[in-house]
Amino acid sequence: MILVRPLVVAFLAAALLLGSESVNGRIYQTDDAIIVEAEDHDRDKNSGEFKIPFWFESNYFKTNGSSSSNDVEQTTQTTQTTSLTNSSLGLVDLFDSNVTTTTTSTTTTTVTTTTTTTTTTMPFVEEEPVFPESSCGVGPAKTLTMEEQRIVGGTEAVKNSWPGIVALKKNGTFICGGSLIARNKILTAAHCVVAIPQREVKLLTVELGIHSLLPSKKAGVITKKVRRMTRHRRFNPRTFFNDIAILTLESNVDYKSTISPVCLPSANSNAEQYADKDATIIGWGTLIEGGFQSAVLQQVTVQLMTNTKCQSFYAGKDKIFDHMMCAAAPGKDSCQGDSGGPLLVQPSPGSPWIQAGIVSWGIGCARPEYPGVFIRVASFLNWIRRNMRS
Ligand code: ARG
Repeated sequence: MILVRPLVVAFLAAALLLGSESVNGRIYQTDDAIIVEAEDHDRDKNSGEFKIPFWFESNYFKTNGSSSSNDVEQTTQTTQTTSLTNSSLGLVDLFDSNVTTTTTSTTTTTVTTTTTTTTTTMPFVEEEPVFPESSCGVGPAKTLTMEEQRIVGGTEAVKNSWPGIVALKKNGTFICGGSLIARNKILTAAHCVVAIPQREVKLLTVELGIHSLLPSKKAGVITKKVRRMTRHRRFNPRTFFNDIAILTLESNVDYKSTISPVCLPSANSNAEQYADKDATIIGWGTLIEGGFQSAVLQQVTVQLMTNTKCQSFYAGKDKIFDHMMCAAAPGKDSCQGDSGGPLLVQPSPGSPWIQAGIVSWGIGCARPEYPGVFIRVASFLNWIRRNMRS
């Protein structure tokens, strides 16, 4: 017994060292986030070629209808996450059901940096989130009526009329939507990036000022590499609890007419402040459930509802947590590929658009019995604030 102990200690130390080396000091966690840094970009140049994104692999996410096939796919997703985190961090509590948005500590537990010689220079600029002000929340000059309005049941957006939307791509293939919240920060859904291992972070790009995903329509589009992905530490890929992530770009983007940030809600005031309001969802997701993605940006107007009402639709199926919210309209919804993108509300005509939600999940798309489910941005203002610094 006495002899075994030092052995165990030595073994653990060796395991720790090995684990640390394998991540090069670029995966770490804070009390509310898991942060994955990109490897040096120049080591491995992207081809820069963009594939036509007409087939989108995210069908294995929660939203794809039948739960039996989902379970398998989600297991895959969970396994990938676990292996990623286990190798470098020790156990990560993915299934903790406490919302941590009230925590104020930002202590960084850096597990890995001491054992590696790689020094990553991080010229990122600290910036505060953009709260309602004249420079954020630009939307279309004219708001389309419900009738004018795919996504599911929507219409093509006026080109560059939503300067806050971005497209997230991996190796040139579209994976999710996102929104610009500061010059180098993108808000998106955790499920969009949870299965991306550290070695592939360098393949992530964000395209700004983009309308069409077609490679031939790249004029005016700004492409930035992702330097860091920060996802909620307690994101649960089974329930989509805490489905939120922030991406840090390699450098700041200049704001212009085609690229400017969304506004975030000003306070975590009344949780149901947007219930019954109209909201606009934008994205390049599939035009019908199980259909093809849209090449051009689509928009659709839906109506937000209370969580009580939403929970009644999902009763016996899925839990609608307080930090989620739902919206629906007959024949209209977000769908696969819209994830990570914004749900926007305009408190009064002409006022800046505020990002109230992040497209997260739903059973099928535009099914009368299942509303679309969004992350409630107002519930994560502290998380966003803290993780914009790191
Ligand atoms: N999870 C989907 C994605 O990865 C978004 C689905 C939203 N579904 C819905 N019915 N509103 O793109």
